[in-house]
Amino acid sequence: MDMDKAFQVNKDSWNRKTQVHYESDFYDKFAFAKAKNSLNSYEQEALGDVTGKSLLHLQCHFGQDSLSWANKGAVVTGVDISDTSIELARKLSADLEIPAQFICCNVLDTAQFLKRPFDIIYTSYGSIGWLPDLMPWAQMISKLLKPGGTFYMVEFHPIAWMFDYNKETPAMSYAYHKKEAIYEEYEGTYADPTASIQVAEYGWNHSLSEIIQSLIDAGLSIHKFAEHDASPYQIFPGMTEEDGMYVLKNQLYPLLFEIEAKKVI
Ligand SMILES: C[S@@+](CC[C@H](N)C(=O)[O-])C[C@H]1O[C@@H](n2cnc3c(N)ncnc32)[C@H](O)[C@@H]1O
Repeated sequence: MDMDKAFQVNKDSWNRKTQVHYESDFYDKFAFAKAKNSLNSYEQEALGDVTGKSLLHLQCHFGQDSLSWANKGAVVTGVDISDTSIELARKLSADLEIPAQFICCNVLDTAQFLKRPFDIIYTSYGSIGWLPDLMPWAQMISKLLKPGGTFYMVEFHPIAWMFDYNKETPAMSYAYHKKEAIYEEYEGTYADPTASIQVAEYGWNHSLSEIIQSLIDAGLSIHKFAEHDASPYQIFPGMTEEDGMYVLKNQLYPLLFEIEAKKVI
């Protein structure tokens, strides 16, 4: 398959989604402008005090998380394929007076744009599913981490990606080990299902073994791996909410996982 075309299709869709997301209740720009923090408890607890640390945020969308880390004292660089997202991230950075650098590129090409290594590389909720192959992704992370630096990711669990969310009730439709791209066309977006925008996108499912092995093969040493039933996002209809965290009523499978890895010296 033509990967350049697939990335372009995704970029065009993310460009269309960005303004809708910015105006959505989901991303709540007013709350963000006030609190200057869009981060959830998992990533805040995992990374702790980031003061003075250089932090690379992969697939940063329009920068809310990047600016949250910067507001906590990190020296932040965000990268994203969507030029509309990056323009908005730069504008938010200026408007909120939270300095951060933003670069528009395919995440797989990040090492071509940044030469200095980072203390922390961070990626979160809804990122790796846009990448066909995780080996180049893991190699880029390894290349851009300082010796002893930390890579941290918190992501939706591969089980959650086995569902087709375009059905009225999400249905388990895709194999856990699916290698081929999943192509979808739909109207609306997760941040505003009622928005009248057309979305077309290519996504790829990645098993836990593929994710973990790619990081190991790239030379990273995994220090923490955790799976969680509670998600800060309502992934499925009818979930039970407590203190801003959502769980499945039957809690049959995990919804999120976290990985923390170090670049060994
Ligand atoms: C669900 S959003 C990520 C949100 C994330 N939780 C955050 O930190 O804000 C996914 C992002 O990945 C970006 N993206 C998709 N494919 C990409 C690629 N190949 N390279 C870089 N960014 C990409 C999209 O433009 C979008 O902003």
